[in-house]
Amino acid sequence: MPIPAANDPQSLRQAVLDHMHVGMTNQTILAEEGGPLLMESAEGIYVTDVEGNKYIDGISGMYFRNAGHGREEIAKAIYDQLTNVSMNVYSGATPKTIQLAAKLAEITPGGLSRTFFCQGGSEANESSLKMAQAYHVRRGEKGRYKVISRRGSYHGSTYGTMWLGGHPGFPRIDYQPKPANVVTVGQPHYYHDEYGANSPEENGERAAKEIEQAILFEGPESVSAVIGEPVSQPLGGVVPPSNYWPMVREICEKYGVLLVFDEVITGFGRLGEWFGADFVRVTPDIMSFAKGITSGYFPVGGSISTQKIADAFAGGPDKVWSHMYTYSAHPGGAAAAFANLAILERESLVANARARGEQVTESLKEMKAKHPIIGDTRGVGLIQGIEFVKDRETREHFDASLGVNAMLTEELRKRGVWIRVPAYILPIAPPLTITPDETDTLLNVIDEALGAVESRLGI
Ligand SMILES: Cc1ncc(COP(=O)(O)O)c(C=O)c1O
Repeated sequence: MPIPAANDPQSLRQAVLDHMHVGMTNQTILAEEGGPLLMESAEGIYVTDVEGNKYIDGISGMYFRNAGHGREEIAKAIYDQLTNVSMNVYSGATPKTIQLAAKLAEITPGGLSRTFFCQGGSEANESSLKMAQAYHVRRGEKGRYKVISRRGSYHGSTYGTMWLGGHPGFPRIDYQPKPANVVTVGQPHYYHDEYGANSPEENGERAAKEIEQAILFEGPESVSAVIGEPVSQPLGGVVPPSNYWPMVREICEKYGVLLVFDEVITGFGRLGEWFGADFVRVTPDIMSFAKGITSGYFPVGGSISTQKIADAFAGGPDKVWSHMYTYSAHPGGAAAAFANLAILERESLVANARARGEQVTESLKEMKAKHPIIGDTRGVGLIQGIEFVKDRETREHFDASLGVNAMLTEELRKRGVWIRVPAYILPIAPPLTITPDETDTLLNVIDEALGAVESRLGI
């Protein structure tokens, strides 16, 4: 088959079916859905495909496009950087990346101060957990290798990260066995309380205590770290009660276990605070970040730790942290990050995420009163979600064979909103640039799409 022309949608659609693995789908499903979105241009919160259809991007690409689409100044910053210094040499560093590390030390909370850079979220979590384990080894605690993570979370798709947590939409049936270092516990989620709690606070307290029980059961001397997202996206923006993370922090301190925050989605403004750590008022020992640091204009991730952790790797050759990726600390990525952070600051996008988040929360409450299909609405800032259920009382989900999520995806698309709806949660996470009017438009479409799905289901 000849290489398809960029302006020939039909050949492109055939070629994608013939020649690509597109993430988390396959050619049969794509063919049924009419192919992936073939994006031709994008501006602000909108993406336009090669046939001229324009959609609101309801999940910021994949929770990364914080500064919105079409930012020429980020593209130009990358160009200017690459035409000057385009990459490191082995064990080198470029001025732009050094400056970015210093900037991150300034804007992240608490004593986080030293960064290892990589290319994305999975690598960031791999790096954070390797850093945690190596830290313990340098301090003479070689037995601390286990990682406690929480059901419902998602921390990446590499072998070392995919068994952490347990994303309902990310089955791991092909990849056995579960690594021996992974310990799994629950997380606070009052709507689906698994602890018999009578309040969100009690749910939070019991979830924190489950972590303590797991540490004691495994043996504290074998546990390296607890990893979690300050606010968890896969379950639809589950905001833990305010007692949870401070309790987990205390438990970690008590048993010498490190706390790792996965801020791949929550970092850089999405919650209406610069970081999830600011929102939950707890500073981790290590923070993983990616996505929003460049708004996806260049693949950058990283792990930033406190000085205490970093100091374990100072000294002779036996102290060196043996970890690297060829493209770590790419100056093009640093240039993209600087340009992106300048936009977030100049346009007060973190404050906008907070204000638009309040607008979304209010509107979702109204929708819940109107649509029997809505079981719960939750979230904060621009990471919110609607959980749709068959039965509000039992909180039971629709049978997967009904394809309610696909129906919702279709009804949203027909009305100009691009959100690929997973299992039973409609995520709402537009770019942080969204205006009040655009937010209303997005919410009206969601309202109408829910109504259309209810009609199709005869509700
Ligand atoms: C919270 C979280 N951590 C880690 C990852 C993995 O990041 P990446 O896909 O860049 O490897 C993701 C990706 O969606 C994520 O949402």
